[in-house]
Amino acid sequence: MPRHLLQLEGLSAAELTELLDRAESFLPVAQGQAAPLSVLDGKLVANLFFEDSTRTRLSFEAAAARLGARSLVLQGSGSSTSKGETFLDTALNVEALGVDAIVVRSALSGGPELLSRHVRCAVINAGDGRHEHPTQGLLDCLTIRRALGGIAGANVAIVGDISNSRVARSALHALTTLGASVRLIGPPTLLPRSFGSIAKHADRVSISHDLDANLADLDAIMMLRVQLERASGAGIASDYRLHFGLTRDRAARLPARCIVLHPGPVNRGVEVDDDVADDSRRSQILAQVTHGVAARMAVLCRCIGS
Ligand code: CP
Repeated sequence: MPRHLLQLEGLSAAELTELLDRAESFLPVAQGQAAPLSVLDGKLVANLFFEDSTRTRLSFEAAAARLGARSLVLQGSGSSTSKGETFLDTALNVEALGVDAIVVRSALSGGPELLSRHVRCAVINAGDGRHEHPTQGLLDCLTIRRALGGIAGANVAIVGDISNSRVARSALHALTTLGASVRLIGPPTLLPRSFGSIAKHADRVSISHDLDANLADLDAIMMLRVQLERASGAGIASDYRLHFGLTRDRAARLPARCIVLHPGPVNRGVEVDDDVADDSRRSQILAQVTHGVAARMAVLCRCIGS
């Protein structure tokens, strides 16, 4: 039976911790400070990206290379999907090339789960619609764990377009399972009141529309990207910054210990000011990218390692 990674929802604290421990052990290799490994020698990983990506796609390639596996890459644009080939037929043909795993990013929530029911190789979700982005959730947890020394008991805010965010969903499931309290903060239109109840540990989730009222006791604040491509009307960026941007003034009201996360790509001056994004005492934005390689190494080992 192939081992897929389709979502973080449903993984136990022990399973998440095992992945994080393994990712942490891979960090020196991920950073190029230790020699590459050969644990996935001879394995072939296909990266199917039907949506744009910089970090996730390249870090899956880096992770495979650091473990001795080879990567194939297919992007939606330039593939035969433009001639009408379906998502599923594309994946079945890629599997017929003899790959061990398909890493897939798709606008279709549930797309990776659909593939997993039709292919024999492992399927790894690299972000599906509004559903989940499980490897992002793992790298976020790894970043918080390393920066704070642990996750249990931490107060974490996730700020922005929560209802459309697969990043928020994966982080919410993993962080609450590992014992953090999560505050979902955003405008009412982007934050349905019922969202918190999707977490198994709903008692650790709260909802607020007031960022300023929540700054004083945070251990970590995760700013989500404003999806400007979906926003209509001029002025959305400046209005958003006024109420939900992590400005220099707001950052000054955070506790000294509080770290800043952002999954990228960052809209500088919208959800995060330049000064905050580049503040090496707080900002974990580039550390998250490095941790992403280690997290994806752990996931590849879990799914296709012997
Ligand atoms: N965080 C993230 O998924 O970034 P990319 O879209 O660049 O992969």
